[in-house]
Parts: sequence; C-alpha cells; structure tokens
Amino acid sequence: MDIATHLGRCDLFAGLGLDTIMLMAKRFEATSCAAGEAIFREGDRGDCFYVIARGEVAVYKGTGVSRRELVRLGAGDVFGEMALISNESRSATVIATVPTDLIKLNQENFTVLMDQNERFAQRVLRMISKRLQQSQDIATLDLLRAHQGLMISLSELAESRDKDTGAHLYRVRDYCTLLAKLMAQSPAFAGQIPSSFIDAIYYVSPLHDIGKVAIPDSILKKNGKLTEEEYAVIKTHTLVGAASLDTVLEYCDLEMFRMAKRLIKSHHECFDGSGYPEGLKGEAIPLEARIMTLADFYDALLSVRVYKEAYTHERVVEIIKEESGRKFDPRIVEIMLAHIDEFHAIHLEYRDKEKPAAAVG
Ligand SMILES: [Fe+2]
Ligand SMILES: [Fe+2]
Repeated sequence: MDIATHLGRCDLFAGLGLDTIMLMAKRFEATSCAAGEAIFREGDRGDCFYVIARGEVAVYKGTGVSRRELVRLGAGDVFGEMALISNESRSATVIATVPTDLIKLNQENFTVLMDQNERFAQRVLRMISKRLQQSQDIATLDLLRAHQGLMISLSELAESRDKDTGAHLYRVRDYCTLLAKLMAQSPAFAGQIPSSFIDAIYYVSPLHDIGKVAIPDSILKKNGKLTEEEYAVIKTHTLVGAASLDTVLEYCDLEMFRMAKRLIKSHHECFDGSGYPEGLKGEAIPLEARIMTLADFYDALLSVRVYKEAYTHERVVEIIKEESGRKFDPRIVEIMLAHIDEFHAIHLEYRDKEKPAAAVG
C-alpha cells in the first residue's frame, strides 16, 4: 500500500507538502480488517490512531441493548485520536462494516508528529474540538429526546383511560403548533412567539389533560350528564396536572416545563373570565393556554364524544365564531379562521388513522 498517497488524500494531511507527508508516512504502518472485525472496543486502552485507506467502519457507543451507532466513516476519514490525546480509554467501539484497509500510527509516533509539525498538531486539535462539540450536541439531543419520549408516554398513559379519544393528542399537538407558527407571523402577536415557543408547545400540548389520571372512572367514563359535584371533580384535573409538573420542575427547571405547567393549569380558562380553575380573563390567561383551548375545542367539536355526535366542519366554524371573545381569544380565532383549511386537513389526515372515538376536552 502506498501510505503517502493515502495520507495525501486525507483532509488532516492535505496541504502539508509532499516531502513532509513522505516523511510522516514512514511512521505509519498498514493493516487490514475483515468485515465485522472490531478495530477497538469501548474501554480498551487507546494506543493507535487510524486513517481509513479503503473500506468503511461503524462507530458505536454503549454495549448490549444500549448499543447505538453514532456514525460511519469511509476512505480519507480518521479515528482514534481522542484516546491518544486524553490518555484515557476508548470512548467508543469501532467495527469494520466491509473489508477495510487502515493506516495506523502508534502513540509514540503520534506524539513525535504532534511535536515536530505544528500545522499537523493544529489540525488535530481543531478536529478534536469539532468532535467534542459534536458529541456534546449528540448528548444534548439524547436528553431532549428522552424528555420528549417521557412527555408523550405520560400523555398517552393519562389518555389511555379515555379509550376512545384516538389520535386527539396528536391532532391537538399539530393544531397548537400550526397556530403558534401562524401567530408568530402575525402583527397581532409580534415578538411574543419565538421559535423556542413553537418547539415547546409541540412537545407539551399533549400533556394538557394529564391530571385526568386522578379522576375516578365513575365520573370520567360516565354516560350521561354530570352532577354539579361530579363536574367539580372533573375541574380538578387542571390543578392536579399542574401540581405534577412542580415535581418535574424541582428536578429540571426548563422553560418547556414551565410552559407545560401554565398550559395544563389554564387550558379551561375562557377569554371572558367564565372558565376554570381561576376564572382568569383575557391576556391574564397564559398565551399557550389560550392556543390550547381553541385547539382542544376545535378537535372535540369535530369528534364523536360520549356526550355528543361529531359536528360538521361548517357547524364547528360557526360555533368557534360564536365563541370568539367568549371562550376564545378573538385574535387567535381570526388567525385560525383565515387558515381553516390547513386545520381541517390535519383533522382529515388523522381521521384515517383513528382508533375508535370520546371525552372531556
Ligand atoms: Fe382538559
Ligand atoms: Fe383534550
């Protein structure tokens, strides 16, 4: 194998000059791996740095059921430098996916090249700093996904007792997100809806009825009109749900969870002050809750529930107009109605995937 030619094709060495590369090449040695062969494993002592001459490797993190592929590398890519610099054990496992030719450099020669060639050392450090940033991004993304997964599974758990609400959670999530995006472009809400708000409402809106877990089946699943006492119990789902977020916030005080708490607590408030649990009025109702109320009722009106048949879309639009300024923030209603076909499309899209249909909004 012509080691110098392969090094010259690699970004890390390109431009260092042919003479330098020829000199450096003397310190490398060629090696080959069969498909499926591990070049090193997580936890091994790091003693070599590798350049891929031909073939492909996969980089894995974790073992057993928690093993996850991070990236695949091909000809011209390099790996294994982190453990040599930090003097720590390997932080990932690298396995050849096809027969692969490698050029490797041992710890001693790696140190010599770093000492002798400033430009090479700078490039290695730049590459390491880029990789550290990437692994930090992956860790942040993992955490975010874990949050999101837990939130949606909690929402589904709470909703699972209302067997027939079907895709309600997913539809309201999409209505809320669409409303927030449209509002962000509207002069009426200028500066009030950053993109972080849109991301957060996407994830937290399915949690709105999480407090229903505390409502007895005899009330939640009752066929027929609720008594005043029973309705008072139903109303507690807002406060019970909001209180459950206090525990989350004790562990992780993120704005996303603060939004979740506001939305859960106030999603049955009405713009005219006639809602519950606090009877808040107008803009005293948190913005995310005003969006949620409209999304939740739009979906409830279009769906078959234990207490009613589904209304036609025309009738739903009429009811929303009638309730504008009463139940709903009129500026949000105006934005929804201007784009009502997009909301209806979301409803139709999920209707096909719907399980059976019902329950309190
Ligand atoms: Fe609710
Ligand atoms: Fe709902």
